[in-house]
Amino acid sequence: MTRTPKTYDDLYAEAKGLIDIEVPLFTNLANLTALIKLRCQWFWVGFYEVINNELVLSAFQGPPACVKISYGKGVCGKSWELKESIIVDNVNEFEGHIACNEASKAEIVIPVFDKAQRVKFIFDIDHTNYGEFKLQDEVGLKKCLTLIEELL
Ligand code: SME
Repeated sequence: MTRTPKTYDDLYAEAKGLIDIEVPLFTNLANLTALIKLRCQWFWVGFYEVINNELVLSAFQGPPACVKISYGKGVCGKSWELKESIIVDNVNEFEGHIACNEASKAEIVIPVFDKAQRVKFIFDIDHTNYGEFKLQDEVGLKKCLTLIEELL
């Protein structure tokens, strides 16, 4: 699928329609991962939650994954440490990449912040093609994630 800014406008609109402020946060996280997986056909879409001093697997869609990731470790842990998104074209070239599934070749990870600008979640998407993720994906996905940040 070719992803354009319009793709993300549509995704954002659909995601906004799914968010329900009256249900537990996990329900909204789960529905958002389901929507993104369905629309974009990515291999793995999910959240890791910052709990105490590590990332713990939260809502996701895709094959089973690693349940805990330490601060600074792997792409997710590095994104948490840097408080920045990371796009990896080839996971084999990212030092310390944690291979939950060998089918994963490229990934994008985006931190999700609470109102005090603390990282609460790391949003992680994996794909089976090298070089899958571009800046437009980061921009579009970050906008969708503001829907979660508004709940934190
Ligand atoms: N690739 C991640 C681990 C999580 S899985 O991809 C679901 C990493 O290196 O942080």
